[in-house]
Amino acid sequence: MSSKCALITGITGQDGSYLSEWLLGQGYEVHGIVRRVALEDPEHRLSRLKAIRGRLKLHAASLESYASIHRVIHEVQPDECYHLAAQSFVSYSFDDEFSTLNTNINGTHFLLSAVKTLAPQCRFYFAGSSEMFGMAETVPQNESTPFHPRSSYGISKVAGFDLTRNYREAYGLYACNGILFNHESPRRGFEFVTRKITSGVAAILAGKSTQLSLGNLEAQRDWGHAREYVEGMWLMLQQPQPDDYVIATGECHSVREFVELAFAHVGLDYTRYLTTDPELHRPAEVNLLKGDASKARKVLGWTHRVKFADLVREMVDEDCRALGII
Ligand code: NAP
Ligand code: GDD
Repeated sequence: MSSKCALITGITGQDGSYLSEWLLGQGYEVHGIVRRVALEDPEHRLSRLKAIRGRLKLHAASLESYASIHRVIHEVQPDECYHLAAQSFVSYSFDDEFSTLNTNINGTHFLLSAVKTLAPQCRFYFAGSSEMFGMAETVPQNESTPFHPRSSYGISKVAGFDLTRNYREAYGLYACNGILFNHESPRRGFEFVTRKITSGVAAILAGKSTQLSLGNLEAQRDWGHAREYVEGMWLMLQQPQPDDYVIATGECHSVREFVELAFAHVGLDYTRYLTTDPELHRPAEVNLLKGDASKARKVLGWTHRVKFADLVREMVDEDCRALGII
């Protein structure tokens, strides 16, 4: 068991909650950076951390404020820092490019700079994304595939990736980029397509809704389970040398396939409930993401275990359970 201290930004999100549980299980002292409003409204804003709240040390700080990040790094002196906080919804980034770029790029820069100045021994993880590949030239994508982001979200992640690599190369920081493909769970935010589908199916089954409206059904994603992906983050920081890794299942499915399976799981024919809305299409789409995680398998010994169909079923079941219909 470890007596190490970890600091997580974005601890209230899907990945932050699973990573906290994983690190507590490894014996870490776990600290998290949260927005001040989260401490004022814990019922809603800390809901994913409910079961472990008493074992975490939470610090109010803002990603937009270097002074507040500096204070927390100075106080906590972490051995490992997992930088997960971001405006993470691609669609919002088309509505407000400026705040997505500001929050995601400056937040990463502030954190790296504070770690370099105040805790240079700290190992740093940056939550990079398969959205960086965007309109990728090759399939599947690995660590050598060129980036071609298609949104300001993707652009902000490429900038974070480059900042992280540059702090490693220029200042000798142990800094890693995870290039994580889509990962989902019953804790996924309701705005993302998988959770929108599974919560929609549950609502239809419960008689609370009659249809599900979506955008592009033909987009394909490489969907894995978030609980397994946070183990990949941790493994990256346990190696002799810092490096960058793709984490993915290597299998991709369309949004339509996800819909079909989710409805079929509760005995419904999706064609009776699904409508499409052009408003939900993105100005620039990423049509196909499929990851090649052979480096992570070989170097980290990381591999995914949850299969696509099991992920869909788990999410539908949890949403039905929340409505009291199973
Ligand atoms: P998530 O559920 O949306 O969580 C995002 C976290 O960032 C939340 O804790 C949120 O805090 C925090 N945050 C957002 N804006 C903030 C701001 N201005 N100041 C402070 N905190 C802020 O995302 P996730 O799925 O866990 O993903 C974690 C990270 O991995 C993100 O950086 C995401 O871009 C990246 N990523 C995710 C995936 C995926 O498929 N899930 C794949 C690749 C990369 P509040 O709760 O207060 O809003
Ligand atoms: N959200 C949403 N809502 N997406 C829809 C809808 C809809 O009604 N209809 C179709 N889609 C399509 C989107 O156009 C996209 O092609 C796909 O479903 C997946 O959308 P999201 O679930 O919003 O995820 P994402 O792939 O854009 O981004 C997620 O994965 C990235 C990694 O590749 C996020 O978690 C990012 O933070 C992450 O970096």
